[in-house]
Amino acid sequence: MNVKNICCLGAGYVGGPTMAVIAQQCPHINVTVVDVNATRIAAWNDADLDKLPVFEPGLDNVVGEARGRNLFFSTDVDQAIDEADMIFISVNTPTKTYGKGKGMAADLKYIELCARQIASVSKTNKIVVEKSTLPVRTASAIKNILDHTGNGVEFQILSNPEFLAEGTAVDDLLAPDRVLIGGDTSDKGQEAIQALVDVYAHWVPKERILTTNVWSSELSKLTANAFLAQRVSSINSMSALCEKTGADVNEVAKAIGLDSRIGSKFLKSSVGFGGSCFQKDILNLVYIAKTYGLNEVADYWEQVIIMNDYQKNRFSNNIVSTLYNTVSGKKITFLGWAFKKDTNDTRESAAIQVADNLLNEQAHIAVYDPKVTEERIYADLDYLNTRAEEENRSLLNVKNDPYEACKDSHAIAVLTEWDEFKTYDWQAIYDNMLKPAFVFDGRGILDIKSLENIGFVCYSIGKGFNK
Ligand code: NAD
Ligand code: UDX
Repeated sequence: MNVKNICCLGAGYVGGPTMAVIAQQCPHINVTVVDVNATRIAAWNDADLDKLPVFEPGLDNVVGEARGRNLFFSTDVDQAIDEADMIFISVNTPTKTYGKGKGMAADLKYIELCARQIASVSKTNKIVVEKSTLPVRTASAIKNILDHTGNGVEFQILSNPEFLAEGTAVDDLLAPDRVLIGGDTSDKGQEAIQALVDVYAHWVPKERILTTNVWSSELSKLTANAFLAQRVSSINSMSALCEKTGADVNEVAKAIGLDSRIGSKFLKSSVGFGGSCFQKDILNLVYIAKTYGLNEVADYWEQVIIMNDYQKNRFSNNIVSTLYNTVSGKKITFLGWAFKKDTNDTRESAAIQVADNLLNEQAHIAVYDPKVTEERIYADLDYLNTRAEEENRSLLNVKNDPYEACKDSHAIAVLTEWDEFKTYDWQAIYDNMLKPAFVFDGRGILDIKSLENIGFVCYSIGKGFNK
């Protein structure tokens, strides 16, 4: 089957960039990305490419090339479904905040709504592709909905999880380590798989396109994120031990990473992992394991989250104890709010938890992040519901200038590894701070020796003080 019209439900961090790259690489396929959020769609259509709703290096060029040619953003979901041969579902699958599985299971209400809408609108056969990260066996639920409320239309369900990381989304999409496609083992299932393989084969080498059964594909996505997050929690657990023993976590990471069986990537100790995926997907995995009675499996993976929470709290506790056991009324500057560099995404960012802990201690916080808006930062804090919204606004201020943010503060905490932090005039920053002037580098990116020469008292994650 030759795919001519693709539609994608969900114009978020995954749907937008993924479809933009498909459209750029396959000019003969019409790609329409739809969303129920009209503001988001308007931003995707903004003539000013700096105003796209997702910031990703290189994305403006990809969208600029394909938009209006064969890439369209729209709120007309029904029309896009009707015209498509292949429909990607790329809507959000957050952790449930109510009912059974609250705080653990994935909330599949948006997925189900999509399936029902596809079923009611479709008049021709469609291939439905799960792009969202889903619990293993979700495809059977989607198939049930499609088969029982459809108009006699035939649907094939594929699983095609997305492995892009934010901040490098365009590069990851253009040169993926692998593309994974899971489908039914029947002839029609295999035909559907081939149709999607043919789309990717326009730019991805064939040997990197892996096909499996649906369940393996669904479970591989959760497994990949669990393994990646586990590496970060493993090195972060060692960071605490390094600080007690005089070992340096970067040296330990290098020493073990040179073992080709371990590998060097994803061993950067930090203030804790964030992002919309790791915590959500591990909680989901833990929940699935429990529903099958696999309690030891569940407990094993839950430790990855427990260690991550420990790391975030350890960082804020260390700030309080270092500042003579009180930060009440003291100004502390946060450099960075995003969950990692090169993105404006703040979901589950370690900065949020660290800020909340320090605000509980009555600290005054000034935040500077090159890409995150003031509105977003307050929304992140308000969402926690720890204190009144007015209190969040009076205790925490957002600055557009890093030097202004650092002025008159007792301590600077680096929460995100933005490259620009390394290039600042740290002498000027020091001169305008209260003394002793502390730096808590939660990302291990600053040149601690030169900061100490200026006069700063420096803590670096996994090294501690003065090493
Ligand atoms: P997102 O919240 O940025 O975007 C989801 C979009 O779907 C929203 O704009 C929302 O309005 C829209 N939506 C919800 N219901 C809809 C409906 N019925 N019809 C049309 N649009 C609808 O989420 P995201 O970060 O793009 O993640 C989407 C999925 O991809 C999740 O399952 C996530 O786990 C997975 N994923 C995310 C990443 C990542 O880096 N963010 C990476 C890999 C996989
Ligand atoms: C992750 C997966 O990498 C990606 O494959 C999946 O599709 C979505 O989830 P993402 O969350 O965008 O991607 O970013 P990632 O680079 O994985 O970083 C996640 C968090 O871990 C960030 O907060 C990052 O700062 C932290 N991290 C990562 C570390 O603290 N140390 C590391 O060595 C690597």
